Amino acid sequence: LQAEALGAIGAAASLDTVEAERVRLLGKQGQVTALLKTLGGMTPEQRQSEGPRINGLREAVSAAIAARKAALEGAALEARLAAERVDLSLPAPDTPRGSVHPVSQVMDELAEIFADMGFAVATGPEIEDDWHNFTALNIPETHPARAMHDTFYFPDPGSESAAGSKLLRTHTSPVQIRTMQSQQPPIRIIAPGRVYRSDSDATHTPMFHQIEGLVIDRGIHLGHLKWTLETFLKAFFERDDIVLRLRPSYFPFTEPSAEVDVGFTWTNGRRILGGSEGWMELLGSGMVHPRVIRACGLDPDEYSGFAFGVGVDRLAMLKYGMDDLRAFFDGDLRWLRHYGFAA
Ligand code: PHE
Repeated sequence: LQAEALGAIGAAASLDTVEAERVRLLGKQGQVTALLKTLGGMTPEQRQSEGPRINGLREAVSAAIAARKAALEGAALEARLAAERVDLSLPAPDTPRGSVHPVSQVMDELAEIFADMGFAVATGPEIEDDWHNFTALNIPETHPARAMHDTFYFPDPGSESAAGSKLLRTHTSPVQIRTMQSQQPPIRIIAPGRVYRSDSDATHTPMFHQIEGLVIDRGIHLGHLKWTLETFLKAFFERDDIVLRLRPSYFPFTEPSAEVDVGFTWTNGRRILGGSEGWMELLGSGMVHPRVIRACGLDPDEYSGFAFGVGVDRLAMLKYGMDDLRAFFDGDLRWLRHYGFAA
């Protein structure tokens, strides 16, 4: 029996089989148990010779079962450990990450640069009314500048005049009006945001971005405007050799008005900002027109100020050497990657 039992236990391939062997041999009805029971009916002499043999059998069988169980459990653990092992040497899967769009990045940079000069950020609605976008800025209904702005109007069947009609703001200048109406001088704000004009080619998109600047206080003059623009452009382009040229110009809401050019030099057939071998038109500016100050309820004899408006997309193109404005709004990751804006 011992040889047969030990053989069966050793051959058991699973814990269930080992358990079945245990029941068959050591259970209540087990074969070894039955042998043990026979000891009770034996003579003392028989018991003396059979006792150790039968008990030896029982011990050998339980030891074999315990050993087989341990071996099978060990193997199962090994298998589990092998299956569940984390391979730290495997390269991690590539997780795509988002990035900040160049236009947003430039707007953030500008807000930071102007914050250092004491400017707060102001906002206004993209759906404007005619009064804030034009009339209050000294652009009356008959003014030719309205036609120049290629305005998107909302259909307004109920009104005869343009005065109450809604439109998509054509510039950030209406934020000048809203700020002067809601704040008392000294005012120092920039107003970044989207503007809209019905226009589309390589350098014009129907939606683009501007940043408006406005300073209103006592005794503000053109020198303050020029210093502010110089300081901002040197910080933005990270160059000390930026040269500005103020060219007399015309905007209905500023007097005098100046178009600001930035100087560049030719290097290897390319225009590099800095120096003054040539000039690039950059932004519009001027001293806020007394009529605009008065339209906002302030006294132009007491307060003066300057304003400027600059294309954010244009600034980004100049800083990063991009050449097609439309690509800004295509959402093409390859383009963003090319200029280092996406991973
Ligand atoms: N609003 C003008 C434009 O969009 C720019 C400008 C702003 C000019 C402020 C002067 C002062 O062209």
